[in-house]
Amino acid sequence: MNTPTSPQIAPGAQALPRVAVLATGGTIAGSAPDAANTAGYQAGVIGVAQLLAAVPGLDALAQIHAEQVASVDSKDMSFALWSALVQRVNELLAGDDIDAVVITHGTDTLEETAYFLHLTVKSRKPVILTAAMRPASALSADGPLNLLNAVALAASGQAAGQGVLVAFNNRIHCARDVTKISTYAVDAFQSPEIGALGWVQDGRVEFQRRALRPHTVDASFNADVQWPQVEIVTSYAGVSRIAVDALVSAGVRGIVVAGTGNGSIHITLQQALAEVAARGVAVVRASRVGSGHVMHNGAAKDDALGFVSAGTLNPYKARVLLMLALAAGTNEKAALQRVFDTY
Ligand code: SIN
Repeated sequence: MNTPTSPQIAPGAQALPRVAVLATGGTIAGSAPDAANTAGYQAGVIGVAQLLAAVPGLDALAQIHAEQVASVDSKDMSFALWSALVQRVNELLAGDDIDAVVITHGTDTLEETAYFLHLTVKSRKPVILTAAMRPASALSADGPLNLLNAVALAASGQAAGQGVLVAFNNRIHCARDVTKISTYAVDAFQSPEIGALGWVQDGRVEFQRRALRPHTVDASFNADVQWPQVEIVTSYAGVSRIAVDALVSAGVRGIVVAGTGNGSIHITLQQALAEVAARGVAVVRASRVGSGHVMHNGAAKDDALGFVSAGTLNPYKARVLLMLALAAGTNEKAALQRVFDTY
Protein backbone atom coordinates (compact mmCIF):
# COMPACT_ATOMS: atom_id res chain seq x y z
CA MET A 1 0.00 0.00 0.00
CA ASN A 2 1.36 3.39 -0.98
CA THR A 3 0.60 5.91 1.75
CA PRO A 4 3.08 8.78 1.60
CA THR A 5 2.64 11.12 4.52
CA SER A 6 2.38 14.21 2.34
CA PRO A 7 0.94 14.57 -1.18
CA GLN A 8 3.24 15.86 -3.92
CA ILE A 9 1.09 18.90 -4.62
CA ALA A 10 2.48 22.34 -3.96
CA PRO A 11 -0.09 24.31 -1.93
CA GLY A 12 -1.29 27.28 -3.93
CA ALA A 13 0.71 26.24 -7.05
CA GLN A 14 -2.42 26.79 -9.16
CA ALA A 15 -5.92 27.94 -8.49
CA LEU A 16 -7.31 24.50 -9.30
CA PRO A 17 -8.66 22.44 -6.39
CA ARG A 18 -6.33 19.71 -5.12
CA VAL A 19 -8.03 16.33 -5.28
CA ALA A 20 -6.57 13.09 -3.94
CA VAL A 21 -7.66 10.02 -5.91
CA LEU A 22 -7.39 6.88 -3.78
CA ALA A 23 -7.71 3.64 -5.74
CA THR A 24 -8.87 0.44 -4.08
CA GLY A 25 -9.51 -1.87 -7.07
CA GLY A 26 -12.86 -3.03 -8.44
CA THR A 27 -14.17 -3.41 -11.97
CA ILE A 28 -13.20 0.18 -12.73
CA ALA A 29 -9.64 -1.19 -12.52
CA GLY A 30 -10.58 -4.51 -14.14
CA SER A 31 -9.21 -6.08 -17.28
CA ALA A 32 -10.57 -8.79 -19.60
CA PRO A 33 -8.90 -10.75 -22.40
CA ASP A 34 -10.91 -8.92 -25.08
CA ALA A 35 -12.93 -5.73 -25.40
CA ALA A 36 -16.31 -7.46 -25.85
CA ASN A 37 -15.91 -9.29 -22.53
CA THR A 38 -17.80 -7.49 -19.74
CA ALA A 39 -18.27 -10.39 -17.33
CA GLY A 40 -15.18 -12.65 -17.46
CA TYR A 41 -12.61 -10.15 -16.25
CA GLN A 42 -10.35 -9.75 -13.26
CA ALA A 43 -11.17 -6.82 -10.99
CA GLY A 44 -8.55 -4.55 -9.45
CA VAL A 45 -5.58 -5.23 -11.73
CA ILE A 46 -5.05 -1.79 -13.31
CA GLY A 47 -3.12 0.78 -11.31
CA VAL A 48 -4.28 4.27 -10.45
CA ALA A 49 -1.87 5.97 -12.89
CA GLN A 50 -3.35 4.02 -15.80
CA LEU A 51 -6.90 4.73 -14.59
CA LEU A 52 -6.19 8.45 -14.54
CA ALA A 53 -4.41 8.37 -17.92
CA ALA A 54 -7.64 7.04 -19.50
CA VAL A 55 -9.56 10.18 -18.50
CA PRO A 56 -8.95 13.16 -20.75
CA GLY A 57 -9.56 16.57 -19.20
CA LEU A 58 -8.89 15.70 -15.56
CA ASP A 59 -6.02 18.16 -15.29
CA ALA A 60 -8.33 20.99 -16.35
CA LEU A 61 -10.55 20.24 -13.35
CA ALA A 62 -8.11 19.62 -10.53
CA GLN A 63 -4.55 19.03 -9.44
CA ILE A 64 -4.55 15.30 -8.88
CA HIS A 65 -2.62 13.46 -6.20
CA ALA A 66 -2.95 9.69 -6.75
CA GLU A 67 -2.47 6.82 -4.31
CA GLN A 68 -2.99 3.08 -4.69
CA VAL A 69 -4.50 2.15 -1.33
CA ALA A 70 -5.42 -1.40 -2.38
CA SER A 71 -6.14 -3.56 -5.44
CA VAL A 72 -9.07 -5.73 -4.41
CA ASP A 73 -12.28 -7.08 -5.78
CA SER A 74 -14.65 -5.37 -3.37
CA LYS A 75 -16.43 -8.63 -2.53
CA ASP A 76 -13.30 -9.21 -0.43
CA MET A 77 -13.50 -5.89 1.44
CA SER A 78 -12.15 -6.22 4.98
CA PHE A 79 -12.27 -4.30 8.24
CA ALA A 80 -8.49 -3.83 7.93
CA LEU A 81 -8.90 -2.11 4.57
CA TRP A 82 -11.78 0.02 5.85
CA SER A 83 -9.60 1.13 8.75
CA ALA A 84 -6.65 1.94 6.46
CA LEU A 85 -8.91 3.82 4.06
CA VAL A 86 -10.65 6.01 6.62
CA GLN A 87 -7.34 6.72 8.33
CA ARG A 88 -5.78 7.87 5.05
CA VAL A 89 -8.84 9.94 4.10
CA ASN A 90 -8.81 11.66 7.49
CA GLU A 91 -5.04 12.29 7.27
CA LEU A 92 -5.30 13.81 3.79
CA LEU A 93 -8.31 15.99 4.57
CA ALA A 94 -6.84 17.24 7.85
CA GLY A 95 -3.96 18.85 5.91
CA ASP A 96 -4.04 22.13 4.00
CA ASP A 97 -2.78 20.65 0.75
CA ILE A 98 -5.81 18.51 -0.21
CA ASP A 99 -9.29 19.92 -0.84
CA ALA A 100 -11.21 16.73 -1.59
CA VAL A 101 -10.87 12.96 -1.92
CA VAL A 102 -12.17 10.69 -4.68
CA ILE A 103 -12.13 6.93 -4.02
CA THR A 104 -12.36 4.36 -6.81
CA HIS A 105 -14.01 1.17 -5.54
CA GLY A 106 -15.73 -2.00 -6.72
CA THR A 107 -19.49 -1.76 -7.10
CA ASP A 108 -20.28 -4.88 -5.07
CA THR A 109 -19.72 -3.47 -1.59
CA LEU A 110 -19.45 0.20 -2.49
CA GLU A 111 -22.62 1.03 -0.56
CA GLU A 112 -21.20 -0.48 2.65
CA THR A 113 -17.85 1.32 2.40
CA ALA A 114 -19.59 4.58 1.49
CA TYR A 115 -21.89 4.45 4.53
CA PHE A 116 -19.02 3.40 6.81
CA LEU A 117 -17.01 6.45 5.64
CA HIS A 118 -20.10 8.69 5.87
CA LEU A 119 -20.18 7.91 9.60
CA THR A 120 -16.43 7.93 10.34
CA VAL A 121 -14.71 10.57 8.16
CA LYS A 122 -13.90 13.62 10.28
CA SER A 123 -14.02 16.41 7.72
CA ARG A 124 -16.48 18.62 5.88
CA LYS A 125 -14.35 18.43 2.72
CA PRO A 126 -15.84 16.41 -0.16
CA VAL A 127 -15.39 12.64 -0.24
CA ILE A 128 -16.72 11.03 -3.43
CA LEU A 129 -16.80 7.32 -4.27
CA THR A 130 -17.06 6.11 -7.83
CA ALA A 131 -16.87 2.79 -9.65
CA ALA A 132 -17.75 1.08 -12.92
CA MET A 133 -19.83 -1.82 -14.14
CA ARG A 134 -17.62 -2.55 -17.14
CA PRO A 135 -13.89 -3.29 -16.89
CA ALA A 136 -11.41 -0.70 -18.11
CA SER A 137 -10.63 -2.93 -21.13
CA ALA A 138 -14.28 -3.04 -22.33
CA LEU A 139 -15.97 -1.39 -25.28
CA SER A 140 -17.88 1.56 -23.82
CA ALA A 141 -16.19 1.24 -20.45
CA ASP A 142 -18.10 3.42 -17.98
CA GLY A 143 -15.21 3.97 -15.55
CA PRO A 144 -13.47 6.93 -17.23
CA LEU A 145 -16.63 9.08 -17.38
CA ASN A 146 -17.62 8.11 -13.84
CA LEU A 147 -14.13 9.08 -12.63
CA LEU A 148 -14.25 12.37 -14.55
CA ASN A 149 -17.64 13.16 -13.02
CA ALA A 150 -16.43 12.23 -9.53
CA VAL A 151 -13.46 14.60 -9.84
CA ALA A 152 -15.71 17.32 -11.28
CA LEU A 153 -18.02 16.91 -8.29
CA ALA A 154 -15.10 16.89 -5.83
CA ALA A 155 -13.63 20.02 -7.41
CA SER A 156 -16.93 21.86 -7.76
CA GLY A 157 -17.07 23.27 -4.24
CA GLN A 158 -20.69 22.10 -3.99
CA ALA A 159 -20.04 18.76 -2.29
CA ALA A 160 -18.50 20.17 0.90
CA GLY A 161 -20.51 19.44 4.03
CA GLN A 162 -22.72 16.90 2.26
CA GLY A 163 -21.09 13.82 3.75
CA VAL A 164 -19.79 11.00 1.60
CA LEU A 165 -21.29 11.01 -1.90
CA VAL A 166 -21.37 8.49 -4.72
CA ALA A 167 -20.96 9.72 -8.30
CA PHE A 168 -22.22 7.07 -10.69
CA ASN A 169 -23.73 7.21 -14.17
CA ASN A 170 -24.12 11.00 -13.99
CA ARG A 171 -26.05 10.92 -10.72
CA ILE A 172 -24.99 12.05 -7.25
CA HIS A 173 -26.18 9.84 -4.39
CA CYS A 174 -25.93 10.12 -0.61
CA ALA A 175 -23.84 7.29 0.86
CA ARG A 176 -26.62 6.48 3.31
CA ASP A 177 -29.26 5.89 0.68
CA VAL A 178 -27.50 4.48 -2.35
CA THR A 179 -27.64 0.79 -3.22
CA LYS A 180 -26.65 -1.43 -6.12
CA ILE A 181 -29.76 -2.56 -7.98
CA SER A 182 -28.43 -4.39 -11.06
CA THR A 183 -25.94 -7.20 -11.56
CA TYR A 184 -24.93 -5.99 -15.03
CA ALA A 185 -26.52 -2.72 -16.13
CA VAL A 186 -24.46 0.44 -16.39
CA ASP A 187 -27.17 2.32 -14.46
CA ALA A 188 -26.54 0.07 -11.47
CA PHE A 189 -27.09 2.40 -8.50
CA GLN A 190 -30.22 3.99 -7.11
CA SER A 191 -31.34 5.62 -3.88
CA PRO A 192 -34.70 3.86 -3.52
CA GLU A 193 -37.62 5.85 -2.13
CA ILE A 194 -35.45 8.93 -1.62
CA GLY A 195 -33.81 9.48 -5.00
CA ALA A 196 -30.50 10.93 -6.08
CA LEU A 197 -29.30 14.22 -4.59
CA GLY A 198 -28.45 15.65 -7.98
CA TRP A 199 -26.49 15.13 -11.14
CA VAL A 200 -23.16 15.84 -12.80
CA GLN A 201 -22.70 16.11 -16.55
CA ASP A 202 -20.08 17.73 -18.81
CA GLY A 203 -18.41 19.33 -15.81
CA ARG A 204 -21.63 20.87 -14.48
CA VAL A 205 -22.87 19.88 -11.04
CA GLU A 206 -26.39 20.44 -9.78
CA PHE A 207 -27.77 19.44 -6.38
CA GLN A 208 -31.53 19.24 -6.03
CA ARG A 209 -31.68 18.24 -2.36
CA ARG A 210 -29.48 17.64 0.71
CA ALA A 211 -29.20 14.72 3.10
CA LEU A 212 -30.77 15.59 6.46
CA ARG A 213 -29.29 12.99 8.83
CA PRO A 214 -25.99 13.67 10.66
CA HIS A 215 -22.76 12.42 9.14
CA THR A 216 -18.96 12.90 9.13
CA VAL A 217 -18.04 15.62 11.68
CA ASP A 218 -21.54 15.48 13.20
CA ALA A 219 -21.47 11.70 13.70
CA SER A 220 -20.04 10.38 16.95
CA PHE A 221 -18.42 7.19 15.67
CA ASN A 222 -14.81 6.13 15.71
CA ALA A 223 -13.31 3.78 13.14
CA ASP A 224 -10.30 2.93 15.31
CA VAL A 225 -12.09 0.13 17.14
CA GLN A 226 -12.20 -3.58 17.78
CA TRP A 227 -15.02 -4.60 15.41
CA PRO A 228 -17.84 -6.46 17.16
CA GLN A 229 -19.08 -9.56 15.31
CA VAL A 230 -22.41 -8.71 13.67
CA GLU A 231 -24.03 -10.99 11.11
CA ILE A 232 -27.13 -10.97 8.88
CA VAL A 233 -29.85 -13.63 8.69
CA THR A 234 -32.77 -13.69 6.26
CA SER A 235 -36.40 -14.63 6.79
CA TYR A 236 -38.06 -16.79 4.09
CA ALA A 237 -40.60 -19.60 3.72
CA GLY A 238 -39.69 -22.56 5.90
CA VAL A 239 -36.68 -20.85 7.53
CA SER A 240 -35.18 -22.61 10.57
CA ARG A 241 -33.44 -21.23 13.66
CA ILE A 242 -30.21 -23.09 12.87
CA ALA A 243 -28.34 -19.99 11.69
CA VAL A 244 -29.36 -17.89 14.72
CA ASP A 245 -28.36 -20.61 17.20
CA ALA A 246 -25.05 -21.18 15.43
CA LEU A 247 -24.26 -17.46 15.35
CA VAL A 248 -25.02 -17.00 19.01
CA SER A 249 -22.95 -20.08 19.92
CA ALA A 250 -20.11 -18.47 17.97
CA GLY A 251 -20.42 -15.35 20.12
CA VAL A 252 -21.97 -12.72 17.84
CA ARG A 253 -22.87 -9.44 19.53
CA GLY A 254 -25.51 -8.47 17.02
CA ILE A 255 -27.78 -9.90 14.34
CA VAL A 256 -29.51 -7.96 11.58
CA VAL A 257 -32.52 -9.78 10.20
CA ALA A 258 -33.49 -9.15 6.58
CA GLY A 259 -37.19 -9.65 7.08
CA THR A 260 -39.93 -10.07 4.54
CA GLY A 261 -42.10 -7.07 3.60
CA ASN A 262 -42.14 -4.44 6.33
CA GLY A 263 -39.50 -6.38 8.27
CA SER A 264 -41.89 -9.18 9.21
CA ILE A 265 -40.16 -12.36 10.43
CA HIS A 266 -41.19 -16.00 10.15
CA ILE A 267 -42.50 -17.13 13.56
CA THR A 268 -39.72 -19.73 13.99
CA LEU A 269 -37.00 -17.18 13.35
CA GLN A 270 -38.79 -14.50 15.38
CA GLN A 271 -38.93 -16.76 18.44
CA ALA A 272 -35.23 -17.58 18.12
CA LEU A 273 -34.33 -13.90 17.73
CA ALA A 274 -36.50 -12.83 20.69
CA GLU A 275 -34.76 -15.45 22.85
CA VAL A 276 -31.29 -14.25 21.92
CA ALA A 277 -32.32 -10.60 22.29
CA ALA A 278 -33.38 -11.42 25.86
CA ARG A 279 -29.88 -12.83 26.40
CA GLY A 280 -28.28 -9.53 25.32
CA VAL A 281 -27.65 -9.98 21.60
CA ALA A 282 -28.63 -6.83 19.68
CA VAL A 283 -31.28 -7.71 17.08
CA VAL A 284 -32.06 -5.20 14.32
CA ARG A 285 -35.03 -5.70 12.02
CA ALA A 286 -34.52 -4.60 8.40
CA SER A 287 -36.20 -5.70 5.17
CA ARG A 288 -35.06 -7.81 2.26
CA VAL A 289 -37.43 -5.91 -0.08
CA GLY A 290 -34.92 -3.29 -1.27
CA SER A 291 -36.97 -0.14 -0.76
CA GLY A 292 -39.33 1.41 1.76
CA HIS A 293 -38.77 1.48 5.52
CA VAL A 294 -39.20 -0.78 8.53
CA MET A 295 -41.29 0.99 11.11
CA HIS A 296 -40.62 0.53 14.82
CA ASN A 297 -43.38 -1.64 16.29
CA GLY A 298 -44.83 -2.00 12.79
CA ALA A 299 -44.76 -5.59 11.49
CA ALA A 300 -43.37 -6.86 14.80
CA LYS A 301 -43.86 -5.76 18.41
CA ASP A 302 -40.27 -4.60 18.69
CA ASP A 303 -40.43 -3.33 22.25
CA ALA A 304 -41.91 -6.58 23.54
CA LEU A 305 -39.55 -8.76 21.48
CA GLY A 306 -36.42 -6.71 22.26
CA PHE A 307 -35.82 -5.68 18.65
CA VAL A 308 -34.56 -2.46 17.11
CA SER A 309 -35.93 -1.37 13.72
CA ALA A 310 -33.65 -0.23 10.90
CA GLY A 311 -35.90 2.42 9.30
CA THR A 312 -34.79 3.01 5.71
CA LEU A 313 -31.39 1.32 6.09
CA ASN A 314 -31.03 -1.89 4.11
CA PRO A 315 -29.65 -4.91 6.03
CA TYR A 316 -26.06 -4.33 4.91
CA LYS A 317 -26.02 -0.70 5.99
CA ALA A 318 -27.90 -1.56 9.18
CA ARG A 319 -25.05 -3.95 9.95
CA VAL A 320 -22.46 -1.17 9.48
CA LEU A 321 -24.37 1.14 11.85
CA LEU A 322 -24.91 -1.63 14.41
CA MET A 323 -21.19 -2.50 14.41
CA LEU A 324 -20.21 1.13 14.91
CA ALA A 325 -22.81 1.64 17.65
CA LEU A 326 -21.80 -1.52 19.54
CA ALA A 327 -18.13 -0.60 19.17
CA ALA A 328 -18.96 2.80 20.70
CA GLY A 329 -20.44 1.02 23.73
CA THR A 330 -24.14 1.46 22.88
CA ASN A 331 -25.80 -1.83 23.85
CA GLU A 332 -29.13 -1.01 25.46
CA LYS A 333 -32.14 -1.41 23.11
CA ALA A 334 -33.67 2.06 23.52
CA ALA A 335 -30.26 3.69 23.01
CA LEU A 336 -29.65 1.57 19.91
CA GLN A 337 -33.07 2.54 18.56
CA ARG A 338 -32.15 6.21 19.03
CA VAL A 339 -28.97 5.58 17.01
CA PHE A 340 -31.03 4.07 14.19
CA ASP A 341 -33.56 6.91 14.37
CA THR A 342 -30.73 9.44 14.19
CA TYR A 343 -28.31 8.12 11.57
C1 SIN B 1 -15.98 -5.37 -7.32
O1 SIN B 1 -16.93 -5.02 -6.61
O2 SIN B 1 -14.80 -5.16 -6.99
C2 SIN B 1 -16.22 -6.10 -8.58
C3 SIN B 1 -17.47 -5.73 -9.25
C4 SIN B 1 -17.54 -4.31 -9.69
O3 SIN B 1 -16.74 -3.44 -9.36
O4 SIN B 1 -18.51 -4.01 -10.45
